[in-house]
Parts: sequence; structure tokens; C-alpha cells
Amino acid sequence: MKAIQITKYGDIKDSLKIAEIDKPEISDSEILIAVKAAAANPIDYKIVQGHLKDMLKLDLPSGIGYDVSGVVVEIGNEVKDFKVGDEIFSRVPQEYMGTVAEFVAVDSKVVAHKPENVTFEKSASLPLTGLTAIQALEKVNLKKDDRILIHAGSGGVGSFAIQYAKSKGAIVYTTTSTTNLDWVKALGADRVIDYKNEDYKEVANNLDIVFDTLGDDYTFEAFDIIKEGGRVTSIIGPPDAESAKEMGMENYQLPEKLAKLIEEKSAEYKHTWMQPNADQLKEIKAMIEDRTIRPTIDLVYSFEDAVKAYEYLATGRAQGKIIISLAETFENQ
Ligand SMILES: NC(=O)c1ccc[n+]([C@@H]2O[C@H](COP(=O)([O-])OP(=O)(O)OC[C@H]3O[C@@H](n4cnc5c(N)ncnc54)[C@H](OP(=O)(O)O)[C@@H]3O)[C@@H](O)[C@H]2O)c1
Repeated sequence: MKAIQITKYGDIKDSLKIAEIDKPEISDSEILIAVKAAAANPIDYKIVQGHLKDMLKLDLPSGIGYDVSGVVVEIGNEVKDFKVGDEIFSRVPQEYMGTVAEFVAVDSKVVAHKPENVTFEKSASLPLTGLTAIQALEKVNLKKDDRILIHAGSGGVGSFAIQYAKSKGAIVYTTTSTTNLDWVKALGADRVIDYKNEDYKEVANNLDIVFDTLGDDYTFEAFDIIKEGGRVTSIIGPPDAESAKEMGMENYQLPEKLAKLIEEKSAEYKHTWMQPNADQLKEIKAMIEDRTIRPTIDLVYSFEDAVKAYEYLATGRAQGKIIISLAETFENQ
């Protein structure tokens, strides 16, 4: 079968190649999926560029991609919840990474039926970003009337998180650049801050929660704009003790500057390293089907143009999700 492979660490264009590899064989608990669409996520190009090589030990060449939507073509002997022909979506665990391929095998425990009212492309846009937003916001117990700032409302995670937070009754502030103001407002945010022309800290402060999707100084500045006892939930800042443990980091110490800020504000700081979760995928399916949340897709690339998809995503300017469609290339699969 054909697959996109990471052949070495470095420049996206030089490192990613279309390769002919063996079709996966499934074990009793696994299913084989004919991939119709995969999503590109920032973690993919960070892996290619070598930024995560100490944390994720890969044997190269390796597949790329975690998000998938497609059709079940084989099931293992113990699989009860799926049958051949089912249309599914998943964020596959690390050991199955490689969804930008004709077929991918995955443990059935991390798979759910895809939302019935949207395409494979839209379904593939949801798992990684949707699970991340849900897990990061559940960690800080987001609830009705919480005032929350969600950074990068036009990003894959931010655009899902705005809609999810509104569905929980929160009052949502978000940041984006001038180009994206209108469509981000249409996602339901109460106040969209144009970071090119406004100081977000003046507009959004005394908040219950900051959702940090940007990192660096944004993580630290979150403590300037939460109220005393407020919560900061980050997917890009330093791990907290619990997430460091999950990520296998031994003897981890919170950076001193962050520890001081947490103490000064009597704040809660949580870091999320998202985990595959079929129950939460079912929750996402329901929210798509009742139109609580709508997928936000910027561009769809063909399998042959997958490298261009990653190059575009790596500019950091994507407006929602970047999708790689395999349905046309492999229509007879
Ligand atoms: N820990 C985890 O488990 C986890 C899971 C998912 C993602 N992540 C990480 O979280 C980050 C966000 O992911 P994503 O998928 O949402 O990324 P993304 O879709 O690539 O984000 C792109 C968006 O970021 C916006 N942006 C860039 N700089 C900004 C700024 N200074 N202020 C406001 N918006 C800004 C851009 O809007 P403009 O063009 O308008 O600036 C663009 O629309 C990535 O670093 C990713 O690796 C971590």
C-alpha cells in the first residue's frame, strides 16, 4: 500500500516521501481501516522537524498522522463494537501513528463511529483537536458562567474549544488576527480580540480560566489576567507534575518562574498531553450531529500533495483544520 513516510528529521519537504509499504496485519483486538481522510496537526511537523525526538523515540522511516476517518475493512476476532463497512473516526495512539496511508490498523478501543451528518474530511478534522479541547477544559472544571480566554481562536484547537466552551455556558474571549475576526466571531465567542490592534490583557482580565494554546510568554502572562484563585490550562506550556509523569519525565520540577506565579495568584495550573478516548469521541459525534459544534476546515489537500499540507500548516496561519483526502486517490480500495 502507499503511505507518507518520515524518512529523516529535518525540513518537511526533504523528509517526507510517498512510499510503498506492507499493508498492516491486524491482531484480535484491532480493526483495519481504509483511510478516506486524515488531518494534519502541528505535532506532525514538529515530529518531522525533530523537535520531539527525545520524547517520542521513532524508528525511521515511520508513518505520519494521528487523525483518521474511514471505513472498516477487516476486524479482529475479539472486536465486538464494529463490523466491516462501518464508517469510523479516531485519534490513533502513538504506536499506530501513520494515518496518511491507504490503510491503518488500530485497536478498536480508541475508535468511534463517525458523525453521520458530515463527510469523512470533516470527521477527520475532529479527533485530536476535539479531544485536546475537551480534556484541557475538563481538567480545570470549566462550568457555566466561567469567564475564559481561549488563545488562537482560529486554530484547530481554539476553534473547537470556543464552541465547546459556549455549549457549557461559559463567557468566551478569544484572540485572533484581523483577517480571522469575522469567522471566529461566527463560532460564537462573546468577544473576539484582534491581537494585531488590541492588547488582549486590557480586554480580557479578572478571568476564571485562560486556555493557553500558544506557550512561551503567553503561559506566564495568563497569570496576569486570571483572578485570584483562577485556573490556567495549557497544551503547550511546561508540564505539571501529573502530566510530566504521564509523559514519562522522571524527577521533573516545575520551572521556578511558573511555580512562583502559581503561588502568588493561589492559582491552579494544569497541562494536558491529550490521550485517545473513544467515549469522548462519541461525545464529539453527538455534538456534531446536534450541531452544537461544527467542524472548521481551511484547506483539503490530495494524498499526492500531503507534503504541501504540512508545509502550509507549519506557517502557523491555518484557519481551522488542514485535511488530507485519500478518497479520490484510492477510490478502489
Ligand atoms: N498538548 C497537547 O496534547 C496538544 C494537542 C493539540 C495541539 N497542541 C499544540 O497546541 C498548539 C495549537 O494547536 P492548533 O492545532 O490549534 O494549531 P494551529 O491550528 O496550527 O494554529 C494556527 C492558528 O494559530 C493562530 N495564532 C498564531 N499566533 C497567534 C497569536 N499570537 N495569537 C492568537 N492566535 C495566533 C493563527 O491565527 P492568526 O493567523 O490569526 O495569527 C492560526 O489560525 C500547537 O503548538 C500544537 O502543537 C498540543
